Amino acid sequence: MKFIAILITVLAVITIVNSQACSYTNTKNDLINLSNLTSYDTNAYNVTSTKTKNIFYYNICGAVRYCADNAQSKGTYSACGYMSKVDKVYAFGVPNMINITSLGDGNEYGATVVYNSSSACANLKRSTVLKLYCYEGTTVESLSVDDSNNCGVVIEANIPCPGVKIPVKKSGLSGGWIFIIILFSSFAAYAIFGSIINWKVRHQSGSSIFPNSSFWSNFGSLIKDGVFFIKGKVSGTPYVGGGATYTEI
Ligand SMILES: *[C@@H]1O[C@H](CO)[C@@H](O)[C@H](O)[C@H]1NC(C)=O
Ligand SMILES: *[C@@H]1O[C@H](CO)[C@@H](O)[C@H](O)[C@H]1NC(C)=O
Ligand SMILES: *[C@@H]1O[C@H](CO)[C@@H](O)[C@H](O)[C@H]1NC(C)=O
Ligand SMILES: *[C@@H]1O[C@H](CO)[C@@H](O)[C@H](O)[C@H]1NC(C)=O
Ligand SMILES: *[C@@H]1O[C@H](CO)[C@@H](O)[C@H](O)[C@H]1NC(C)=O
Repeated sequence: MKFIAILITVLAVITIVNSQACSYTNTKNDLINLSNLTSYDTNAYNVTSTKTKNIFYYNICGAVRYCADNAQSKGTYSACGYMSKVDKVYAFGVPNMINITSLGDGNEYGATVVYNSSSACANLKRSTVLKLYCYEGTTVESLSVDDSNNCGVVIEANIPCPGVKIPVKKSGLSGGWIFIIILFSSFAAYAIFGSIINWKVRHQSGSSIFPNSSFWSNFGSLIKDGVFFIKGKVSGTPYVGGGATYTEI
């Protein structure tokens, strides 16, 4: 009876630790839950260093069979590296030495997973930092590994983040600029095609080639009238424009 009680308690503690260990809540109050990203493939996820050709195998909140089968010292590992130069596999992280935090640098959409190990490397222990970025895809996509510090590697990967609304990157031009560009393009087209029609079809010459040239030559004074009219309304002194008088409505 006592044994069963202890067993249940131990299992409960393990469950709490596991479910807590594989998620965190970001400052936007989204739960970044990595539980479903655990791979059950023998090799889990892998990424090859472009410089050293070392191959790193890692899992997210789980162990890697390949690591258990091939590491120099027997154990359960969440990350290990095949070192091409020495032709050996070293442990780079164990499942229960895990720490999950935000990406930092203000990026809320992803997670940093740190695995430590007791695998000795110089005076240090080998460790792995996973930088996981939420993206629109549906599978984990390994991007790169930095193994320039050969005791601690940094692996970057894209991960699906169901339930997390990743903000869409803003387009380079705002609505206002697009409006202004369309306005100017339309005006340029109007001026060019209008001039061609006036020149070729209507056989105009000189300044009257410009479409509606008499309207545009008065445009400046129309604007001036408008401005003074509004100014007159605001200041209470009625403005009498060039020729026309605006009657009260
Ligand atoms: C994360 O997701 C897993 C699988 O869906 C679930 O069992 C677990 O409770 C979730 N963790 C949290 C903290 O909600
Ligand atoms: C994990 O997968 C299960 C089954 O597909 C799903 O019901 C659950 O919502 C998923 N959890 C997360 C956190 O994506
Ligand atoms: C490494 O991962 C890729 C997918 O990202 C997979 O196609 C390949 O077989 C894996 N290599 C090993 C040695 O597991
Ligand atoms: C990993 O190791 C570092 C440096 O020794 C230590 O500060 C950190 O607390 C360790 N984290 C875990 C989860 O073991
Ligand atoms: C996890 O990482 C955070 C941030 O680096 C640190 O403050 C915390 O002490 C770490 N926890 C463990 C158990 O290593």
